[in-house]
Amino acid sequence: MSGGDRLRTSLTRPQMLREMGLSPLWRLRPHASRLPSQPLEGVAAAVSDADHLASGGPAVAVPPGTVPAAAGDRAGEIAGMGWDELRRSVADCRACSLCQARRQAVLGVGDLNADWLFIGEGPGAEEDARGEPFVGPAGKLLDAMLAAIDLQRGNDVYIANAVKCRPPGNRTPEAAEIAACAPYLRRQIALLQPRLIVLLGRAAAHAVLGEVGSLASMRGQSFQYRSPAGGENIPVIVSYHPAYLLRTLTDKARAWEDLCRARALMRAARATSAGPDPGVGQGVTTTP
Ligand code: URA
Repeated sequence: MSGGDRLRTSLTRPQMLREMGLSPLWRLRPHASRLPSQPLEGVAAAVSDADHLASGGPAVAVPPGTVPAAAGDRAGEIAGMGWDELRRSVADCRACSLCQARRQAVLGVGDLNADWLFIGEGPGAEEDARGEPFVGPAGKLLDAMLAAIDLQRGNDVYIANAVKCRPPGNRTPEAAEIAACAPYLRRQIALLQPRLIVLLGRAAAHAVLGEVGSLASMRGQSFQYRSPAGGENIPVIVSYHPAYLLRTLTDKARAWEDLCRARALMRAARATSAGPDPGVGQGVTTTP
């Protein structure tokens, strides 16, 4: 049973919202509830080329004892991998010093046909031990956040991280570490082809969008992820990291706004590709 299943069976909807700090009742402000009827371009306040992802990122310092990949080839090789190869490559990766202290690399978890891709920062202690992203306290909150918009881990949802190995002491991953992992994240996105990417926190935003400003300045905007392999642009939004929300309860309401906005964007994206959706235009006001 997935974490989402456990939550679903053990928590009622009001309990889930309470878990998120959103009880007894949250309604979106009027400007946010207009989103579903707007075209995707209408809500795209910013578009990033994800240039650093496209270019493979800056050079990575390879620590002693690691096996340096041939410069230039590594990203190209990863770009051609399927899921099995990717999993093996991540498990054996020694492209940055994070490999030295990890118990195991954590590729990601979820539905390989997911429309939703959530990207966090990097594994913590529990994730490092269990090999699955977001299984600690922040993961419990993420599961509650997913449940609050009728999603669950593993069902139309894939969860990944900017870096696949635990930064010692749970520190924020450094730019070179994020860059070393970027080909993996880029390949995951290319294989998944999600309809929407939700970036949880600044490290994830850095990994996918590059250095584009503070989290506060990125929240509320829509970005486009343009895959170097071509294909459709994928809408991207930025929200708070669940671990931050555990420390900063007052921002949970904003996170809820982001989730509702994400849901509206998903509806719009589905409507764009599949014709009229009965859900579109009904608003995103949600009551428990
Ligand atoms: N925080 C993250 O960013 N990712 C995890 O997998 C766990 C905690």
